[in-house]
Amino acid sequence: MSTAPETKVTLASGSRMPVLGLATWQLTRDTADAVEAALQLGYRMIDTAADYGTQPGIGEALKRSDIPRSDIFLVTKVEETDDAYGATRKYLAELQQGYADLMLLHRPPPHGAGEELWQGLIRAKSEGLARDIGVSNYSVELIEQLADATGEMPAVNQIEWSPFGHSDAMLRFCSDNKIVIQAYSPLTRGKRLGDETLGAIAAKYGKTPAQVVLRWNLERGTVPLPKANQRSHQEENIGAFDFELAPDDVETLSGLNERYSSLGELPYA
Ligand SMILES: NC(=O)c1ccc[n+]([C@@H]2O[C@H](COP(=O)([O-])OP(=O)(O)OC[C@H]3O[C@@H](n4cnc5c(N)ncnc54)[C@H](OP(=O)(O)O)[C@@H]3O)[C@@H](O)[C@H]2O)c1
Repeated sequence: MSTAPETKVTLASGSRMPVLGLATWQLTRDTADAVEAALQLGYRMIDTAADYGTQPGIGEALKRSDIPRSDIFLVTKVEETDDAYGATRKYLAELQQGYADLMLLHRPPPHGAGEELWQGLIRAKSEGLARDIGVSNYSVELIEQLADATGEMPAVNQIEWSPFGHSDAMLRFCSDNKIVIQAYSPLTRGKRLGDETLGAIAAKYGKTPAQVVLRWNLERGTVPLPKANQRSHQEENIGAFDFELAPDDVETLSGLNERYSSLGELPYA
């Protein structure tokens, strides 16, 4: 599968989403500068959430950029404690935007699947405040509960996902239901980049472990969201586009699965 930074995946709605995004949690460099640099390097999807504190800086970077808004894919999230519809309006104001391309439910509430929150996002979508809506940190069972209650499937499930922590059952369910998986903490926050098998595959292609891990996502149709504050990392990560992994190397990487989670536990089976 060959790809370029401008490659997109089609969501169930027909909207097109870039296959790589810049994540912005704990961005320590000035957010506007970091996002502006990423846009210049070719990133076209930016992921944020209200609790990352990066929404105003992203709004600023989008204002500074001469890239048409329609070429940029903006993802943000409402919290499980929010009134989802009201929060959508509030976060769009922080972003200085009229709409988000994708509005996610950040995590399920402690009880139930968050049907009321989901209804709020459905309303936001119907009013054009979000082009697509999705979930984050959801299991198959919780997604099914939301869909059963409302008739609306999420377009995306954003979950922790790497060669060291992933699930065939989740991949199959999402593929069967036209849900795209966005991979957060795709680089395991650096914790597994020193793995020996990963290192050997990286050496074989003359690539870095981070590039191989990102490429593993691209080959399997999942969409990685690496966070990179440093420009050198942003450059390195976009370098996942100029090579392909052989199917047996993709399989070897998938076999590294140990259900690793930097947060403690994967939120899905
Ligand atoms: N939906 C959710 O509940 C949820 C939860 C967690 C995270 N997320 C999203 O996913 C994003 C990414 O996850 P994450 O930040 O937890 O982890 P990550 O992307 O796996 O790792 C980020 C770390 O890796 C470093 N890095 C970046 N590129 C590198 C490279 N090429 N080589 C070596 N190290 C590199 C970064 O350094 P520098 O920053 O110094 O460049 C940073 O320390 C978050 O920012 C957030 O947007 C979502």
